[in-house]
Parts: sequence; C-alpha cells; structure tokens
Amino acid sequence: MTPSHLSPTGGLPTGHLIGQPLTALAPMQDVTDLAFMRVIAHYGAPDYFFTEFFRVHAQSRPEKHILRSIDENDTGRPVFAQLIGEDLGHMARTVDALLKHNIAGIDLNLGCPAPKVYKKNVGGGLLREPQKVAQILATLRAAVPGLFTVKMRIGFADTALFDTLLDLINEHGVDLLSVHGRTVKEMYRSEVHYDFIARAAARARCPVLANGNVTSATRAAAILGETRAAGVMIGRHAIRNPWIFRQCREQFAGRDVTRVTLGDVRDYVERLYRATQNDEFPERAHVAKMKKYLNFVGQSVDATGAFLHGMRRAESESDLFAVCDQHLLGEPQREFSPEPYPGIIARPNCETPGSDAAGCSLETVTA
Ligand SMILES: Cc1cc2nc3c(=O)[nH]c(=O)nc-3n(C[C@H](O)[C@H](O)[C@H](O)COP(=O)(O)O)c2cc1C
Repeated sequence: MTPSHLSPTGGLPTGHLIGQPLTALAPMQDVTDLAFMRVIAHYGAPDYFFTEFFRVHAQSRPEKHILRSIDENDTGRPVFAQLIGEDLGHMARTVDALLKHNIAGIDLNLGCPAPKVYKKNVGGGLLREPQKVAQILATLRAAVPGLFTVKMRIGFADTALFDTLLDLINEHGVDLLSVHGRTVKEMYRSEVHYDFIARAAARARCPVLANGNVTSATRAAAILGETRAAGVMIGRHAIRNPWIFRQCREQFAGRDVTRVTLGDVRDYVERLYRATQNDEFPERAHVAKMKKYLNFVGQSVDATGAFLHGMRRAESESDLFAVCDQHLLGEPQREFSPEPYPGIIARPNCETPGSDAAGCSLETVTA
C-alpha cells in the first residue's frame, strides 16, 4: 500500500513559500534527532528535514532513536529517511520497513567521508564505482513508490566521474538531488566547488539543493544566484544559527531579515539544553554534548573566541550557563554575527590525514 503522504504523481512537498527556493536541514548524525528538529522548528523550520542515516547491512533493523524523529515528528514539515549501505536486498528490505512510517521519501547517502565508512564501500566510497551506484539506484527506484532522493558529494578523490554520476541520477528517476560541493577526500573544510553544484543544477532533470558552507541568508541567495539550484541545504550553520531558515525565507521574499541578538542566543542555548536533557544522561555527558553544539554557536558570539575558550572549560550545567550568562547577557542586545567570525574554528578538528574516524558525527566533524 502506498502511504497517503507519498504522492503517486511524484511532486515534491510544497515549501513554506510557494515559488521561492527550498530550504532543508542537512542530515547530521548525532545532531538531527527529534529534539534538535523541534528546536529548529521553534525558530523557523526548513521546508524539509532529513534523518540521520539508517545503517543498512545483513543484521540491521531501522534504529529506534532515528525512527522517533519520523514517528513523533510534530514540526509540521516533512522528513525524508536517509539510508547508507550497499547490499541491494537489504536496502530494499529496509525501504519496505520504512514505508510503514510517515516519511516524505527515501534518501540515499552517497557522501559520508569517514574512512571507516568509505572503506566498506558505502556512503562516499560508492562514488568510485558508478556501476554499483547504478544497481543501488535501480533497486531503490523500484522499491520506493513515492519520492526517492539522493545526497552526494562531487566525487571521491577527484571529479572525473561527476557527469557520469549525474547521468545515472537522471536515468533512474531521482526526484531531488542534494549536492555537497566537495569531494570525499576534501572532507569538510576545503573551499566548496559551487561551479560543480551549478553543473548539477544544469544537467540533472530533478531539482538540486546546494549544500556546503551556506553560512547565512545572504550567502544562500548568492549561492542560489551562482548555481541556479532549486534551494539550499544547511547543516553546521543551522546548529550555529537556528534562525537561518526563517532568515533565508525573509531574504528570498525581499523582506527585512530577522536580526538575532546575544540575548536570543542565550534562549537558544537554554532551549537546546532542556530539549536534549534526559534522566538517563548524566550531567557531565550532557554538558559534553552541549559543548559540541556550542562549538558552532561560538563562531558568531565574539571575534576573539573568548566565549569558546570559557565554554570549553565548563564541566557542569552551572559552569556552562555561567559562561553563557557572562558572554551572552553582558550586552544582550548586541548582534549575534550573521556570519561566523573569521578564524574562529570549532575544535577539536579530527581531519588529520590518516585519521580513521568512526563516522560523520559531532566527534569528528568540525568547521
Ligand atoms: C556532525 C555532522 C554529521 C553529519 N552526518 C551526516 C549524515 O548522517 N548523512 C549525510 O548525508 N551527511 C552528513 N553530514 C554532512 C552534512 O549533511 C553536510 O553535507 C555537510 O556538513 C556540509 O554542509 P554544511 O556546510 O551546511 O554543514 C554530517 C555533517 C556533520 C557536521
């Protein structure tokens, strides 16, 4: 049976503003769970959400905590379920299981750059093997009665296969393509190759979302102008600035863009803390998790990195909020910078050559 939310005619769900570019929250492991989606929705939901990736292999069952972000999604916006894997039978089996849930569609991960992932020939590792990609696309297209979407990087070590991969996207009737404009080897911190996103937007028959360093509403508009993409997908900069989707809509509509103050950011930190708190999570571990989000927030608090310096030393909830009060409530009307301050980098940065990071997660991915 086709679930009612899957349009048999294939159209993408409409965005908040019909006729305006789309916005999406990028899938982020350990981040884009139900709690985080709710916090983002409070400040202005994107048009689309994507789950963290469901791992697919012989023993896999859809992870319960990720299913919660679908089953209990009360943000008012659709959520696509992302898969990572390569076994055709198990991919189809997982699609069948996920179709019983209220998903907007199925998304395939062709981008994860963690060595432990790509060495298993899944995620970004698949970009080296167009024939295998073709088999997976054919299997998923046949298994998904509604929307089937793909998120990819522009290549593995180089971009030689990019056009071939785009042709496969066309051949297999993909409904929406998100392009992170870096190769797998470029990880997260190189320049983003927007010219390749433009190439995808020109060549793909489906709408393309531009992804990678969309830092602000102003940048979103400029990137859309440069790439002619149908919309933007935003990851780390939505952790830093959860108002960004609302600001994008304002920018696209030619309205004044909401100005965010440090006092507003103090509210965000409190909301995120309470949303991610649970009885089984010891305070120290919760504070450690909060620091990973605050690494991104700190890029827009002050130009010297003083907030980040203080925040990294917090060990308890009271330490953490004392640092927040000091840096965010001293001048609560001061502007939270729409762009990250230059040179303020979220650390630790585990992108050292030869590092064998376990996955895409807040442990290993920084800006
Ligand atoms: C902490 C973290 C986890 C991520 N997990 C995933 C994931 O599960 N699936 C995926 O396709 N991409 C994942 N990514 C990549 C993002 O979706 C996005 O492509 C990348 O961060 C570039 O966009 P940005 O500059 O807006 O952050 C992750 C990125 C981060 C920072």
